[in-house]
Amino acid sequence: MNQSLFQFSESFAREMDAKDSLAHFRSRFYFPKVNGKKAIYFCGNSLGLQPKSVKDYLEKELNNWADRAVDGHFHGEDAWYHVRKKSKPALAHIVGAQEHEVVAMNNLSVNLHLLMVSFYRPTKERYKIIVEAGAFPSDQYMLETQIKFHGLDPKEVLVELSPRTGEFTLRTEDIVAEIEKHGDSLALVNMAGLQYYSGQLFDIKAIVAAAHSVGALAGFDLAHAAGNAVLKLHEWNVDFATWCSYKYLNSGPGNVSGIFVHERFAERPDLPRFAGWWGHDEGERFKMEKGFVPMYGADGWQLANSNVLALAVHQASLDIFAEAGMENLRAKSEKLTGYLEFLIHEISGESGVLEIITPKSPAERGCQLSLFIHCGGKEVFDEWYNQGVVGDWRNPNVIRLAPTPLYNSFLDVFRFAKILEQSLKKFA
Ligand SMILES: Cc1ncc(COP(=O)(O)O)c(C=O)c1O
Repeated sequence: MNQSLFQFSESFAREMDAKDSLAHFRSRFYFPKVNGKKAIYFCGNSLGLQPKSVKDYLEKELNNWADRAVDGHFHGEDAWYHVRKKSKPALAHIVGAQEHEVVAMNNLSVNLHLLMVSFYRPTKERYKIIVEAGAFPSDQYMLETQIKFHGLDPKEVLVELSPRTGEFTLRTEDIVAEIEKHGDSLALVNMAGLQYYSGQLFDIKAIVAAAHSVGALAGFDLAHAAGNAVLKLHEWNVDFATWCSYKYLNSGPGNVSGIFVHERFAERPDLPRFAGWWGHDEGERFKMEKGFVPMYGADGWQLANSNVLALAVHQASLDIFAEAGMENLRAKSEKLTGYLEFLIHEISGESGVLEIITPKSPAERGCQLSLFIHCGGKEVFDEWYNQGVVGDWRNPNVIRLAPTPLYNSFLDVFRFAKILEQSLKKFA
């Protein structure tokens, strides 16, 4: 992003909003209040805002339940038996997949475990897993316990990649070199797509190619990438991935996750999995017979019948994504985050209070900027919050700010900058 395009003025921010073809989506979301005022909400990386349409989507299913009860499963328009199909087109668009490669189900940590059952198959020779150091705790616990489940020692299996000394993010060349170094002993690369702490978007395509070149598989936790970065999971040959829907996908606290399983595993009944009746051949499901026959594609990893109410909320948001388009969202996002970066540099300059640790290149980040706080610590964060800025704090000293293209404006970013300017007078 050419930073000279930006100006530190309210009129410039307003002009950018006036030119923004996605600006009208903002009015479709509820904003929280802080100290009685509409918040500057930069926390979509943690919990996305509620689309106003959610109530209608939910009410429709509540009415179906009230009016049809058990008949709602098979009768009437939108019978619940097939409800999983509804979200597939939008999800496939968001993560760059074929429709049969994705399905919405369970929660993210649960799905990570289920996918590991199928795709982490250690042998005596090939057993190592590469992960970024400081991965999200759920991923760390998942890996630790999966490895122990196979009777192995996490210390011997896990290869944790740290940035070079003095750097905050990993270089792709170092990730690739590490994959090549472990070669025949490497079973799996299991990383975040976008790192929750640093905001770094990894080069998924290069990582997958490197993993495959040594005969390993590559799977990703896309919690911070889905609905944020443009993804091409099918084209990049990603083996498997999972994400949550409550961050950038605005589907409500703890709502349903999604999985991606590449087409080449679509008809692999031989792959081990922990099965349930909802992954069993749909046409035969109600014969209630012995012998699990997985459905084609990602559907074959389902266990339980779909959570219809959760999916209704999810659909409200997915329909907005389908309308806005991921490429358009990303184009705005680069400008919005670029503007935030520009203003932070303009204001904090050489003060030494803040350091942006997220990569500078838009190709290596999503909308989030992670600010390393050198003075003032959490007090800086609390001060901003009192002024109406909702970001989030991650120990030991990072503030994450995520202006999202669906509901944030350039004026939000400008207003935050004025608050930042004031607070630096106190803490610098
Ligand atoms: C990167 C990452 N992975 C996993 C999780 C855990 O998600 P869940 O509680 O939905 O399983 C989170 C939650 O914020 C996350 O950010």
